[in-house]
Amino acid sequence: MDVNETLIRRMTRLAIEHGAVNLSQGFTDEAPVYDLVWSGIAAMLGGTEARRREVDAMTLGDLLTARGATHADAVDLTLKELLAGARNPRDQFNQYSFPFGLPELRRAIADYTERLYGRRPDPEDEITVVLGASEGMAASFCALLEPGDGVVLIEPCHELYPSQAAIFGLAPRFVTLREDPEAGTWRLDRDAVRAAAADPSVRAIVVNTPQNPTGKVLGVDELSFIAQLCREHDLLAITDEIYEHIVFDGHRHLFLPGFEGMAERTVVVNSISKTGRATGWRIGWVLTPPAYTDRLRAVHDNLVVQAPTPLQKGAVALLDQERSFFDGIADGYRQKRDLLVAGVREVGFTVTPPEGAYYLFANYRSVPALADMTPTEAAMHLVEKVGVATVPGDNFYAAADDGDRYLRFAFCRSMETLEKGVERLRAGLGAAPGAANPVD
Ligand SMILES: Cc1ncc(COP(=O)(O)O)c(C=O)c1O
Repeated sequence: MDVNETLIRRMTRLAIEHGAVNLSQGFTDEAPVYDLVWSGIAAMLGGTEARRREVDAMTLGDLLTARGATHADAVDLTLKELLAGARNPRDQFNQYSFPFGLPELRRAIADYTERLYGRRPDPEDEITVVLGASEGMAASFCALLEPGDGVVLIEPCHELYPSQAAIFGLAPRFVTLREDPEAGTWRLDRDAVRAAAADPSVRAIVVNTPQNPTGKVLGVDELSFIAQLCREHDLLAITDEIYEHIVFDGHRHLFLPGFEGMAERTVVVNSISKTGRATGWRIGWVLTPPAYTDRLRAVHDNLVVQAPTPLQKGAVALLDQERSFFDGIADGYRQKRDLLVAGVREVGFTVTPPEGAYYLFANYRSVPALADMTPTEAAMHLVEKVGVATVPGDNFYAAADDGDRYLRFAFCRSMETLEKGVERLRAGLGAAPGAANPVD
């Protein structure tokens, strides 16, 4: 079986080893959403629903009274000492809970989906809470497909798809996206997708929009085309939507179950990792048509039991945010994208600005110092000599050689970190003659 430690995580290790600015792995260095964090804390301390509500509303005065302390004592007490008074000697929330997710989180996921896309999945038999999109994908592959089944993967793609396909004995059929710099996008070769989907062994197609690593956002035509193939060949669509809120320049994320005939054949995988800036929490969910839910829940239960109970409580507070909160997420990333696009172009990379997600998939062959290197050599040069960690492009391809010209940069870090990364690129690679700056 061809499964190793993921290269993305290895690059993070190398970044730490070399003191490099880490633009490799897709996680932020900024604080997670506060409502999320606080609700998790209140659940851990409160232990039961009634006490959690009390903790949520507690004042400093309440905590001092609980300790028999005065207001004057307060200045010398640590937060840890004070919050000890909020604990509950009885506990449910730091314990096992329903394997398929707390009822209130499944309710919040249903409301959230309805608010965003106008369709309310049934919390009872269409929603399963999992350990992030990673487990969501794995549980879907394991529960809904059989060893030997073909699955269409659109590359470049996140390495977890082919690796998990290998773990579960699936047979990937790769279709390659091609960069079209003049049009400023990545193109889906419809003939290739049609041919792959028509393979009699194929049972599913994996969709990821906005896409990692290219930033492509699939439009209505492309998704209608995929939906038509799914109907024609009786395929499942497994769609990874974790970048749903990170879309730029008028692009819009579209919800595949809303396409004709797709409600009964689409599995939606999502998580709070990117939306809540909380990749370490490992809270995600899978929406399945009812016919598939029991199988998915059985695999999930036997593999991991459940997602952490108090963190599920936190996730409720995130998903219950107003629509305007989710709509505003992309704004912060747009500025970061523009900074890094200008920065990498200045030193000679060519890049199609992403339509969504938070990565640049940049061609390094036009950077004089890197032009003759393999992607791994180029990434090693950057991490060791320049002090910037990226991911070699070939890591995202299994079938085509196209990856031999790309490096992936993540722009989900703070502006300060990105500015430092750009300075290092400038110092280590120098401005390329005639390099373009603006984002176009
Ligand atoms: C496309 C894609 N899917 C899934 C994941 C993993 O998501 P999670 O943290 O929810 O497991 C990532 C992480 O970067 C990703 O880019």
